[in-house]
Amino acid sequence: MAATLDEITRRAEEDIAKADTPATLNSVASRYLGKKGLLTAERRNIGLLKPAQRPAAGARINQAWQQLQTTLDARKETLKAAAFERALNADLTDVTLPGRRQSAGSLHPITQTLRRIESIFVAAGYQVQTGPEIEDEYHNFTALNTPEHHPARAVHDTFYIQQEQDSTQPLLLRTHTSSVQVRTMEEHRPPLRIICPGKVYRADDPDATHTPMFHQVEGLVVDEGISMAHLKGTLLSFLKAFFGRPLQARFRPSYFPFTEPSAEVDMECVHCDAKGCRVCSQTGWVEVLGCGMVHPNVLEKSGVNPDIYDGFAFGFGVDRLCSLNHGIADSRYFFDNDLRFLQQFS
Ligand code: PHE
Repeated sequence: MAATLDEITRRAEEDIAKADTPATLNSVASRYLGKKGLLTAERRNIGLLKPAQRPAAGARINQAWQQLQTTLDARKETLKAAAFERALNADLTDVTLPGRRQSAGSLHPITQTLRRIESIFVAAGYQVQTGPEIEDEYHNFTALNTPEHHPARAVHDTFYIQQEQDSTQPLLLRTHTSSVQVRTMEEHRPPLRIICPGKVYRADDPDATHTPMFHQVEGLVVDEGISMAHLKGTLLSFLKAFFGRPLQARFRPSYFPFTEPSAEVDMECVHCDAKGCRVCSQTGWVEVLGCGMVHPNVLEKSGVNPDIYDGFAFGFGVDRLCSLNHGIADSRYFFDNDLRFLQQFS
């Protein structure tokens, strides 16, 4: 009996040490200590012994039982700790890994260009003025000395807005931001130094250099003693600041109803360094803006005395400057919303 008990205990210890999951440990426990367990059977067999032998045998079995129970508990704890450790490792988060970035959008190239232009003029003391895109005929044409019969008024160039028969004057989508210059002169006394950025609309068929909506910045300076020399100096300084280097420019006589004299400005082609290329039609020059001295009629209509004040004005296309600056061949790209194009400017 003693030998059997020692043998059972030894095998049980071995089996416990070998059990590497809670399930096998449980089955080891029931094999020795369960209802039909080996040690349980030994305990039952005590009844078969002579009464005198029973207490000693019982004590030995109890001791063996307790010893196994302790070993089982210890092994259970060890397995539990190992399982916990494994779970921790499986779930390991490397806090030193860099996070995943959210991709942030970026400003549209036209917006970037507009902001750049604005900051150049604001640094030179100009104020930024805005006005309505739906404009009346008076502020878009009449106040700007544009005669009734002028072709620029024709439906061909201008998007008119359908209105009630009895409305007082035609409404249209402004064809330039000169209308904002008029509105500013109506409201503020000189000296004035403003730029008017914004969207303008013309009924042109879209092609590489025309879109029915585009962006303009127009400028206006009104003060005593303003001359064409101021205009020229201002525009040359602006082009230099915008393109980052001094550029050759030439002033060609031109005509606008609202300026006299009027000029168009060509600058050296930044694409080919004025050698001649596709962008400048092999001439070395690209036209960038219109300008002139504000016509006395325009000053007068807006309440500015032309006997005291002179003014110069200029206007250019933002989309065009942006295209020239970045070497973009077709201004329709700006409005296609193709991210492959736009992401190049982020
Ligand atoms: N308003 C003119 C245009 O849209 C540009 C311009 C502005 C010309 C001011 C002369 C003076 O084409």
